[in-house]
Amino acid sequence: MAMQRFKIKGGNKLKGLVRITGSKNAALPIIAASILSDQKITIENVPALMDVYTMVELVKYLGAKVSFNNNVLTIHTPKIKKCKAPYDIVRKMRASYYVLGSLIGREKKAKVSLPGGCAIGPRPIDLHIKGLESLGAKIDIADGYINASTTRLTGRDINIGGPKGTSVGATINTMLAAVRAQGITKITPAACEPEVVDVADFLNTIGCDIKGQGTPTITINGQERCSGARYSIIPDRIEAGTFAVAAAITRSKITVIDCQPAHLQSVLELLAAIGVKIKVGQKRFIIDARCRLKPSHICVAPYPGFPTDMQAQFMALFATIPGTSMIKETIFENRFMQAVELMRMGAKIAIQGDTAIIEGVKKLSGAATMASDLRASASLVLAGLVAKGTTVVRRIYHLDRGYEKFENKLRSLGAQITRQNEN
Ligand code: EPZ
Repeated sequence: MAMQRFKIKGGNKLKGLVRITGSKNAALPIIAASILSDQKITIENVPALMDVYTMVELVKYLGAKVSFNNNVLTIHTPKIKKCKAPYDIVRKMRASYYVLGSLIGREKKAKVSLPGGCAIGPRPIDLHIKGLESLGAKIDIADGYINASTTRLTGRDINIGGPKGTSVGATINTMLAAVRAQGITKITPAACEPEVVDVADFLNTIGCDIKGQGTPTITINGQERCSGARYSIIPDRIEAGTFAVAAAITRSKITVIDCQPAHLQSVLELLAAIGVKIKVGQKRFIIDARCRLKPSHICVAPYPGFPTDMQAQFMALFATIPGTSMIKETIFENRFMQAVELMRMGAKIAIQGDTAIIEGVKKLSGAATMASDLRASASLVLAGLVAKGTTVVRRIYHLDRGYEKFENKLRSLGAQITRQNEN
């Protein structure tokens, strides 16, 4: 497929309604979890995204029969045909490693390619391995693959605390294996992200017994079998937050619907603190930024703290608010790549270690930019919405991994954005 780019003409106000799709970071592990069952599973509200297609390709390779239409995915895996996640699929998407937990849980063996590096930092998987080893899996790494096998998984008290506190991925991978272990597993400190809760809730609807999801201690009572189910994925809180920032950066008023405002509390509180008016309803919120905004400070933290997946978007916003704002990124080491691109649009940003200092300017100006990762690409598009003149964002395949119909949604709110093939 030809590389594509966005062309954005800045300056339009936004208005109207935007509907939020299902969460990418819940859908990916839930699809991987579905192969724990030999029964038919129907999952609703699945976002139609590149990463979801990659996960579907992977579970099909393992033996699942899958259909995916109108955000409804059915998956049926009577038999696992292969226990291997090959490099060619894993290299497209790190989250492929979630089949490690499901395969070891169902088949007692798994061979999964090591995910390798990533633009936002080193991203080790030692805690995933620690979780599975604690349950009794033997793990060795050879030729770029993680080989895991066991004769029996046994429930245990597992501490998967790491240098940054909790890990979303390690909590989920350990949970996926522990649901098929004999006896009770306790995971501490468990990640409390809504996506972790969604995976646990899904597993409970296919007959697992998990308690404490959403708290730092998750307790799993292992079961021999999993059943079929129908389940609906939670709304994507990062997509909702990104549209909230789109309204704020254009000083507009929009309504965000089909979302879960409770999952966005830290983000909405920060927006309120800088002067944005927010009205929260059931599964929706109205955001009104037709006013002067104030600079602020953010320190990224695990849920319910301010999400790392939202800091790039706020960097673009802060770049347009007179005064000094700061962002401290504590979770990933190399996640300010949007800064240099924003600076090409006239933003004043200084990076000192894990902290970005942003001096708001009166006006950003359109420029040719390049996306480096998913959330960084979103921040460049947001900046383009208010920049004077035309902004081009290249390499938007990064953005397509995580936002469904992003430009269509922005266009329906009144933005001038088009997708073009690179020539
Ligand atoms: C998930 O990544 C999300 N990805 C990320 O979303 C998100 O930024 C991140 O959680 C934090 O919220 C998916 O859900 C697919 P972690 P994950 O394990 O699970 C360190 C996006 O844009 N760590 O919670 O990989 C790690 O290096 C993305 O949608 C270890 O040291 O994140 C990091 O510093 C990008 N050893 C910290 O823990 C391990 O074994 C938290 O990472 C695992 C992690």
